[in-house]
Amino acid sequence: MNGGSEDRMDEGRERILSVRGLTVGFGGPTVLENLDLDVYRGEILGFVGGSGTGKSVLMRTVLRLNARQAGSISIFGRDFDGLSYADRLAVDTRVGVLFQQGALFSGLTVLENVQVPMREYLDLPTAMMDDLARLKIELVGLRPEAAERYPSELSGGMIKRAALARAGA
Ligand SMILES: Nc1ncnc2c1ncn2[C@@H]1O[C@H](COP(=O)(O)OP(=O)(O)OP(=O)(O)O)[C@@H](O)[C@H]1O
Ligand SMILES: [Mg+2]
Repeated sequence: MNGGSEDRMDEGRERILSVRGLTVGFGGPTVLENLDLDVYRGEILGFVGGSGTGKSVLMRTVLRLNARQAGSISIFGRDFDGLSYADRLAVDTRVGVLFQQGALFSGLTVLENVQVPMREYLDLPTAMMDDLARLKIELVGLRPEAAERYPSELSGGMIKRAALARAGA
């Protein structure tokens, strides 16, 4: 993907995510109103706020899982609204998400859950996907046996770790 490289620089720092004037609601009180946000390369940003104040809604909107009433969202210097399907896919493959409730597929094992992004976007031999998934599972601190377990057989912390392994994949 090309373009936008000047727009995304800010005093020598590269803007990875740029949100302007974001307004989101679901028919009741507005959840996010006219929100601006920049996240720069290498930056680690935490949101802190009361329960139900809109942290997850912000993340879901940035991922295009929620509609918005107003505002623009750019990732890697590209305005989402102007992207073709192929470019959106290219952006999506660079984004990893760990959902608050894990959002693991209940009918798939941990190994199969971690392999979902690989199956969706890559064309790899099964043995290589198995190796990659087992590596991801080890990296998040799960025991190797967890690979064959289903989400209903995991503790809350194990679900988080498995979801993190999938986000990293
Ligand atoms: N799809 C939806 N439809 C209607 N209302 C929603 C929807 N998603 C979120 N909300 C509402 O938006 C508000 C913000 O929710 P959100 O999940 O962003 O909170 P949060 O800040 O992540 O809270 P927590 O710290 O508990 O995770 C809440 O009032 C919630 O009920
Ligand atoms: Mg939340």
